[in-house]
Amino acid sequence: MGREQGAPRHRVLAPVTWMPMTKQTDHYFTAQPASAAERRDLRVHLAGREVIVATAPGIFCPDRVDIGTAVLLSEAPVPPPTGNLLDLGSGWGPIALSLGLLSPQATIWAVDVNQRALALSRTNAKTLGINDFHALTPDEVPTDISFDAIWSNPPIRVGKPALHEMLMKWLPRLAPGAAAYLVVQKNLGSDSLQRWLETELEASDPGAFTVDRQATARGFRLLCVHRMT
Ligand SMILES: C[S@@+](CC[C@H](N)C(=O)[O-])C[C@H]1O[C@@H](n2cnc3c(N)ncnc32)[C@H](O)[C@@H]1O
Repeated sequence: MGREQGAPRHRVLAPVTWMPMTKQTDHYFTAQPASAAERRDLRVHLAGREVIVATAPGIFCPDRVDIGTAVLLSEAPVPPPTGNLLDLGSGWGPIALSLGLLSPQATIWAVDVNQRALALSRTNAKTLGINDFHALTPDEVPTDISFDAIWSNPPIRVGKPALHEMLMKWLPRLAPGAAAYLVVQKNLGSDSLQRWLETELEASDPGAFTVDRQATARGFRLLCVHRMT
């Protein structure tokens, strides 16, 4: 069909409508991200191996291993070889997958509120041959499980009340003798979070927990919460 009489030769672009960023972008902790779910491959090093994982927009740090996460992965001690190991706020899975590669006999729990992140971490676990891997929302995790390790790059940007509620929901579920490692940026309040944890955990269960700095690197602190009894 020919060009309509009088129709412009070139396509005329519609006037640009300004959209506020909140309409175009997701928070990484959105349950169902609105952005396109286009998956892409990412080559990274996890547990001393080069691996290819799947990531996508609408989740935390889809283009690399976050610096804080890298600090946790390089500074935390070797995880227990067996038992229930939790990655709290798992994203596409760099921490949970590392736990699964380092402790192939353990049961890995990857917990997040972002469904796209959970789906990606499941795919990645399957690709890497990590079979005992459970990627779930917080409410889906059986309540009778205690954890032999908790590793987390927690979602500081959800705000203090939500962050505090999340930490006090999961840290008391450490098994006696077990430890949690939390990586927090110094200028996003790592030291005040450490003091807050000491106070709250002592109030909830006197004498049961210690909170220490395991390491400081690249502007991050790695906090260790140890459950003694
Ligand atoms: C800083 S990101 C870390 C993601 C991933 N572990 C990494 O290292 O790339 C924190 C994650 O916590 C998740 N999150 C937010 N609120 C949560 C909650 N209440 N329970 C569990 N995860 C949550 C976010 O969706 C996000 O994926």
